[in-house]
Amino acid sequence: MQDFQQVINSIHKQLKDEINRGLVANYIPELSHIDVNNFGIHLKLISGENFSVGDSQVPFSIQSISKVLSLSLAFQLQGNALWKRMDVEPSGDPFNQLSLLELENGIPRNPFINSGAIVIADILVSQLKNPKEEFLHFVRDLANDQTITYNPAVAASEKATGYTNYAAAYLLKSYQNLENEVDKVLDFYFYMCSLEMNCEQLTNAFYIFANHGVCQQNKTWLTTSQIKRINAIMLTCGFYDEAGEFAFEVGLPGKSGVGGGIVALLPNNFVISTWSPGLNPRGNSKIGMQALEAFTTKTKLSIF
Ligand code: DON
Repeated sequence: MQDFQQVINSIHKQLKDEINRGLVANYIPELSHIDVNNFGIHLKLISGENFSVGDSQVPFSIQSISKVLSLSLAFQLQGNALWKRMDVEPSGDPFNQLSLLELENGIPRNPFINSGAIVIADILVSQLKNPKEEFLHFVRDLANDQTITYNPAVAASEKATGYTNYAAAYLLKSYQNLENEVDKVLDFYFYMCSLEMNCEQLTNAFYIFANHGVCQQNKTWLTTSQIKRINAIMLTCGFYDEAGEFAFEVGLPGKSGVGGGIVALLPNNFVISTWSPGLNPRGNSKIGMQALEAFTTKTKLSIF
């Protein structure tokens, strides 16, 4: 077996002092105070073995990474009926782009751009009695970790400034692709985005995507076919207008968030998560992408 601890140590050492680390997101004011020098990596093998380096135990705002978890719960509840309300094509546009939504009559290109994730939030608001509690319960169960929580200050901060998401939600409503009231759906959407986890917790929550829908506690959450589809959407849409670049450099299905986290996986093999809060111009973690490129290159482990 490869010496994975040595591999992630050397990647961490190589990148931890890099000067050009990108910019911490400031459009959500509460996120703008995070120290850009945080940097952690956690690797979990399918066998359950763990390897960690740096700030891998510090919780951070997972933001759009939550969109994979909300999609998973909605897919479990609704099955393929989901795809009547959104598509599964990469958008090639930024995550908050509005014009495409209007051009395509209120059908979001995919569930990971903001408009698609807002439709998923709407589905969960319709399906669940207590959406915030039940979603949190689902995530805690997936990760087998009852300490995972929302950060209400981050949710409030985004609620106060998230005008583009309000614009997207009203546009969806005007095309009859939102069943519930905009405020109710966005309140839930901002809460989901405010979930906090550390790198290790993220690898626990995403273990099922590397293990055909079965979590570490041996419980089956999603079918093999649903997992195949979610992984395919992560590969083609997980990094928005940089999905091609992530496939090209890293070669794994994955998902980023503007909190600077990335989680990626190789089915049957491993889940890996990085956290470095500085973002590149496309809103993805700059050092995280470099670390994952180095990991799949050094280990020769990618889907390609
Ligand atoms: O809706 C937003 O803009 C944020 N709550 C999430 C965006 C995000 O994480 C994009 N990912 N890189």
